[in-house]
Amino acid sequence: MGIEIITTSDGSHSLLNTELDETYHSRHGAVQESIHVFIKEGLDYFLRRQNATDIAILEVGFGTGLNALLTLQRAQEIPNSIHYTSLETYPIPEEIWSKLNYIDSVGLKEKFDQLHQAPWNSATYILPNFELQKRNVTLQQADLSTGFDLIYFDAFAPNKQPEMWEIDVLKKVVDAMKIDGVFVTYCAKGQLKRDLKSLGLVVETLAGPPGKKEMVRGVKKS
Ligand SMILES: C[S@@+](CC[C@H](N)C(=O)[O-])C[C@H]1O[C@@H](n2cnc3c(N)ncnc32)[C@H](O)[C@@H]1O
Repeated sequence: MGIEIITTSDGSHSLLNTELDETYHSRHGAVQESIHVFIKEGLDYFLRRQNATDIAILEVGFGTGLNALLTLQRAQEIPNSIHYTSLETYPIPEEIWSKLNYIDSVGLKEKFDQLHQAPWNSATYILPNFELQKRNVTLQQADLSTGFDLIYFDAFAPNKQPEMWEIDVLKKVVDAMKIDGVFVTYCAKGQLKRDLKSLGLVVETLAGPPGKKEMVRGVKKS
């Protein structure tokens, strides 16, 4: 697979999958997008709503590890324990992840390395309150446990990888969520919102990160 490092408008790197001609993050700013969609409107929103001591997060698409790094950074500031499961079909090689410049804006170089060096398909504690389990499996094939509090749905866009957004695949994710669990994604397509509603989520369209009009959050009600 062809992968190239690109620099986005906030100065942070992202990757370009040259076969799909699709970037891993918004070209308007990778770090800005991840903080806005997944941390601010995802994790921080969840923390305001629920006082859970343990929070189980499922990420679809580990990719560069940026969402994991930002979540670990937040974990350092909170008393809650985070159990972070991330699915990835194509782990990026060290020669690429080691060149990513997230440590310039986020810091935590040693932790970023540990996130990538952690073994696949087993659980590892990166911090006493941050447990990582990277799984080298497709979402479609993954045997998902139930009980996720928070979903970071960070698949490639529907026009590039439509199979990730099919209702059966979304249903599998929603079925793995707890009641009152929160689902966030950068995508705000009408079909996605209708599908999430039909699967029992209360769906909100929120302002997107800089350069992107909207994003979506859903809360599981039944
Ligand atoms: C938008 S990128 C993820 C960005 C990532 N969260 C980050 O912070 O860099 C989408 C990711 O999904 C992965 N992917 C592609 N097909 C997948 C599948 N069927 N199941 C799980 N992950 C998949 C890709 O390899 C890619 O890393």
